[in-house]
Amino acid sequence: MRLWSPGTTSERFCYALGTEETKMSYHGIIEKYKRYLPFSADVVPVTLYEGNTPLIEADNLQRELKADCKIFLKFEGVNPTGSFKDRGMTVAITQAVIEGSRGVICASTGNTSASAAAYAAKAKLRAFVVLPKGKIAAGKLAQALIYGAKVIEIEGNFDEALKIVREVGEKTRTTIVNSINPYRIEGQKTASFEIVEELGASPTFHALPVGNAGNITAYWKGYKEICTERGLKRPKMLGFQARGAAPIVEGRVIERPETVATAIRIGNPASWSGALEAVNESGGKISTVTDDEILAAQRLIASTEGIFCEPASASSVAGIARLIKVGFFTKKDIVVCTLTGNGLKDPDIVSKGVEYRSTTVRAKYEEVIKLIEQ
Ligand code: F0G
Repeated sequence: MRLWSPGTTSERFCYALGTEETKMSYHGIIEKYKRYLPFSADVVPVTLYEGNTPLIEADNLQRELKADCKIFLKFEGVNPTGSFKDRGMTVAITQAVIEGSRGVICASTGNTSASAAAYAAKAKLRAFVVLPKGKIAAGKLAQALIYGAKVIEIEGNFDEALKIVREVGEKTRTTIVNSINPYRIEGQKTASFEIVEELGASPTFHALPVGNAGNITAYWKGYKEICTERGLKRPKMLGFQARGAAPIVEGRVIERPETVATAIRIGNPASWSGALEAVNESGGKISTVTDDEILAAQRLIASTEGIFCEPASASSVAGIARLIKVGFFTKKDIVVCTLTGNGLKDPDIVSKGVEYRSTTVRAKYEEVIKLIEQ
């Protein structure tokens, strides 16, 4: 048995354990999908081993919604920083390193900033994040801070933050890592590859929350590539915006977007045309869900499937719940909903809800058993 050898950390562990089988076989999306990404074979990825997320058969949820169709949940909340952004960020930050970037910057409703900060830390790059003050879930802000980003909060919304970030990007040598950076889209498209690999086909429908519209653009690009390569039918894309922040549905910029789902509180999406292309080319549609529907779906996903996603994520399920009620799907349909982020990022949403109340009693068996037997 050798206790140390040169090589990667996982290889060294294998040597220490004296076994080859323990070698980790998964090293993130760039290594796995390099041939679909704009990198050369010898690229050195900046990775936190993102991707490879579960596609969960949601049979309890299906029954609860009285759905004829089959429902799967692609849970992106188990990525290293707790959201789908990590797929795009590994690619964008790897490219920033290749280009000799001085540092990275993004505007964010929280998840992009958390992810950018983490990957920048790994790459030893400086990260600057510009956030709408008071509208970022506590966990996301904590992430940006602990990963060591310079956090700048503005008295304005996401759209205003992105405008400033674009200007900084133009005038300095700082790389923008919002989804206007095409490398982000390249990374995020890999979620479609995983779904097709898992199902052995495309789903009939794919439902997603829509904010800045980068993700629906990326999924559609991914589906088109993999379906062309494998001669498969493409899915129809379903996008859902929150009622108070639905610029694409309403066909106009919303100056003051408002929704409980702060992650998608966006009034002027950068990838507006990408989202329209995805729904139009695929024969899908984009529609709205209310805040109440979003919160009800979040609760239902947690209580039926044991999955805690953040409010914005639940809008995909809220959207299909609405469509199920009007008989939109048939028995043959397979519907995948992406749950974009982890609910642990936003615990306040639970403590604020009147339906979630704990009961406090004295520290006595009698008092506890009384409640259990009620
Ligand atoms: N779900 C979550 C949890 C998000 O954080 C976002 C976007 C979306 C859905 C919508 O994705 O913007 O590609 O349409 N969050 C961005 C951010 C805006 O700054 O973290 P999109």
